[in-house]
Amino acid sequence: MSLRLGDVAPDFVAETTEGTINFHEWLGSSWGVLFSHPADFTPVCTTELGAVAKLRAEFDKRNVKVMALSADPLESHKKWIGDINETQGTVVNYPLIADPEFKIANLYDMVHPNVDKFTVRSVFVIGPDKKVKLTITYPASTGRNFDEILRVIDSLQLTANYSVATPANWKHGEEVVIAPAISDDDATKKFPKGYNRIKPYLRMTPQPNL
Ligand code: BEZ
Repeated sequence: MSLRLGDVAPDFVAETTEGTINFHEWLGSSWGVLFSHPADFTPVCTTELGAVAKLRAEFDKRNVKVMALSADPLESHKKWIGDINETQGTVVNYPLIADPEFKIANLYDMVHPNVDKFTVRSVFVIGPDKKVKLTITYPASTGRNFDEILRVIDSLQLTANYSVATPANWKHGEEVVIAPAISDDDATKKFPKGYNRIKPYLRMTPQPNL
């Protein structure tokens, strides 16, 4: 069955390029991103793994641990990482799961048999409570936009702590919307920077944690 928002991200023990990892233990109290790839030695995946390595400091800043999955064996991963480092001008600095029997891929419903026998490009963002906060699925032919993943994490982390939501195309630093459940009176107390009441249900306020 597919994983839904709010479900506990299934725990697993995996062989990875950084040794054997117990997923929940490895996450600890951090946020997590688990993302899958169709196969080793493929062009789009090569660019994606390089892109994530270059963004490692951005994930660290947000207290997010990243882990990739490709269903090929460990020996293959190790050789492929050499190619990634060489061609993408970076060093892969996070674990890559080897899952040749598709155990974890099936646990996370990463194989969509109506398109391919390979894992698709799944992304799971997992909160410190181990619950799934976001899922995105891309086809093999489309490389992901990891700046978008960071943008969503900014929104998830902000809205977990304040009674706000983020509007279309929002980016860190921009105005946010006040949650509809908050009365005008409460909004005045909760948002001392003030707010703009465009409609009773559409109230904009500066990002509260800045
Ligand atoms: C790729 O990563 O380039 C790729 C993988 C599987 C199918 C198509 C492209």
